[in-house]
Amino acid sequence: MSHNTFGHLFRVTTFGESHGPAIGCVIDGCPPGLAIAPGDFTRDLQRRATGRSRHTSQRREADSIEILSGVFEGVTTGTPIALLIRNTDARSRDYDDLARVFRPGHADFTYDRKYGIRDHRGGGRSSARETTMRVAAGVVARKYLSERFGIRVRGHVSQIGELRPTRFDSDAAEGNPFFWPDPDMVPALETYMDSLRKSGDSIGARVDVVAEGVPAGWGAPLYGKLDAELASALMGINAVKGVEIGDGFAVAAQRGSDHRDAIGPEGFASNHAGGILGGISSGQAITCSMALKPTSSLRLPVQSVDRDNAPVTVEVKGRHDPCVGIRAVPIAEAMVALVLLDQYLRHRAQCGGP
Ligand SMILES: Cc1cc2nc3c(=O)[nH]c(=O)nc-3n(C[C@H](O)[C@H](O)[C@H](O)COP(=O)(O)O)c2cc1C
Repeated sequence: MSHNTFGHLFRVTTFGESHGPAIGCVIDGCPPGLAIAPGDFTRDLQRRATGRSRHTSQRREADSIEILSGVFEGVTTGTPIALLIRNTDARSRDYDDLARVFRPGHADFTYDRKYGIRDHRGGGRSSARETTMRVAAGVVARKYLSERFGIRVRGHVSQIGELRPTRFDSDAAEGNPFFWPDPDMVPALETYMDSLRKSGDSIGARVDVVAEGVPAGWGAPLYGKLDAELASALMGINAVKGVEIGDGFAVAAQRGSDHRDAIGPEGFASNHAGGILGGISSGQAITCSMALKPTSSLRLPVQSVDRDNAPVTVEVKGRHDPCVGIRAVPIAEAMVALVLLDQYLRHRAQCGGP
């Protein structure tokens, strides 16, 4: 009954807590013959890592990956792939005062009500530290999708507070600490984030992900629709409060004559659908977005209660992201890749083909 496993044929189980000795995952169902080495994980783990700029948490984890099984002579064997990352920079004393206190906006209250016990250090299992392993598993999925189909999954931040990019250059998003696709706006973002940090407050964000090169036909109607599984995968990322596929909530204001994507011999004339029709990929780019709430851990005081329901004032110490959306980009890409590979394997299982 516990739900720490994701996927059907490409199955990922993660384990570990924020301040435990290690975090890890087991990938079961990976096709054999895929070349995988520790170096393949470096780029994406660094893109997710804290401490890359002054605009993210200053926790500095080595995030050095150990491949414990499932890879022999540099290639996957089809057996379970176990990946491990040891926690090297947990500062548990920052959380000593919080052992019996529920931090508003966090999972403390609900974990306590559900399990009656929780590892309070750094949020324990509810911490976004766990998403490191989603990114690691996503590396394997992305590599397979890229080599087998030329699929490219890329994300960027498309809103921080009221700020929105005025132009989109997805290559440029990799060249700044905000994954921001409008390089001219980066100085303004730096100023914005510096003043936010000084004020002790945090801000929400929007992240867009695009998957290009996905063949038509992936998706499992009716209860494994591609859009439904993408929505679930993105919504399951910490702090996500909204997900959109294609035009998303904007469709509420659209007319059918504008929204439906005309089809011609050369293909679709537009992509309001986000590359999915009837829960199945159409061959167009798959577009999805998610909205992340502002960081809850703030040094600004807030009212709460302790385990005895006595009122307390909470001021959170420790190292936190002022905008958790920034580091969520590689996590969202990983979740999209995991869904796509699992859907591909299920498509092939039912319909055959390459
Ligand atoms: C990449 C990433 C980093 C995060 N870092 C923090 C953080 O430093 N401080 C914090 O209060 N919340 C942080 N969060 C959000 C919490 O993990 C999350 O809000 C909390 O576990 C409650 O879960 P929920 O918001 O999904 O309901 C982060 C989320 C993500 C995706």
